[in-house]
Amino acid sequence: MLLVTGAGGQLGQELRLVLGEKAMYAGRQELDITDEHAVKAFFAARDVELVINCAAYNAVDQAEDDAQAAERVNSLGPALLARYGRRVIHISTDYVFDGASARPWREDDETRPLSVYGRTKLAGERAVLEEAETAVVIRTQWLYSRFGKNFVKTMRRLGAEHSSLNVVYDQTGSPTAASDLAAALAALVPQVTPGMKDVFHYSNEGAISWYDFACAIMRLSGYSCTVCPVESASWPSRAVRPAYSVLNKSKIRQRFGLSIPWWLDSLENCLR
Ligand SMILES: NC(=O)c1ccc[n+]([C@@H]2O[C@H](COP(=O)([O-])OP(=O)(O)OC[C@H]3O[C@@H](n4cnc5c(N)ncnc54)[C@H](OP(=O)(O)O)[C@@H]3O)[C@@H](O)[C@H]2O)c1
Repeated sequence: MLLVTGAGGQLGQELRLVLGEKAMYAGRQELDITDEHAVKAFFAARDVELVINCAAYNAVDQAEDDAQAAERVNSLGPALLARYGRRVIHISTDYVFDGASARPWREDDETRPLSVYGRTKLAGERAVLEEAETAVVIRTQWLYSRFGKNFVKTMRRLGAEHSSLNVVYDQTGSPTAASDLAAALAALVPQVTPGMKDVFHYSNEGAISWYDFACAIMRLSGYSCTVCPVESASWPSRAVRPAYSVLNKSKIRQRFGLSIPWWLDSLENCLR
């Protein structure tokens, strides 16, 4: 049986729709991944073939002031899942990179996280790759879904309330519909072989700024709210974010035979 941890989040809920009864689902209530006794007992009592870890401390700015909490969920938790679960697909992030690149990031490019969130996620990747017997790390970015909190929902809420909004135009990446990532995970699970240890990148296709993304959300939602492009420097935030974090997805496409949807098609689907 598959196990999805962090099942109450956006990706966890999308995975439930895709995998249905092929998996069991543990939210934070059912399994706190930072509690070693709980993790050990959970695996001792069940026959888990493969864990898909969607649990994370994702509050990027808050992590700067609460590094210990971020470290527990993003680094210690994955290490415990790897130690007791043995076979793990772990979800990570583009924030392991520093954003200083002129081309999409490849899996073997040098990592240099700029934030506590990025550093703790990178430590989680390393722990899983070291401790598990089978470890697949999937780095993704700009996740959104009908579930949970995300940029699309925030823009729709603000767009309905305001006549104009400032959105940064100097951070470039690719939005990722969590439903597409969930479908990709379902497709690759049967192709994960024992002993495999590897890192892959997954996002939707296309490279845009948050400003472009916000404009598309307003247009597709039928809102007249004007989106004004602003620089990140004029938008103070605790954590530094990578300026360019587009992920190169050739490896996952080729290795698992995936075809990856264009970001705008996926956004249209989600809003529909
Ligand atoms: N969201 C993004 O834009 C983005 C970008 C790049 C990578 N990622 C990665 O993609 C993965 C999925 O992200 P997401 O957007 O689906 O996250 P999400 O919606 O924030 O869900 C994360 C889930 O983890 C749970 N959780 C937190 N601490 C836990 C613990 N100690 N034990 C068990 N569960 C715990 C949370 O529960 P509570 O709600 O109770 O805290 C939440 O349900 C994560 O690895 C994330 O780092 C996300």
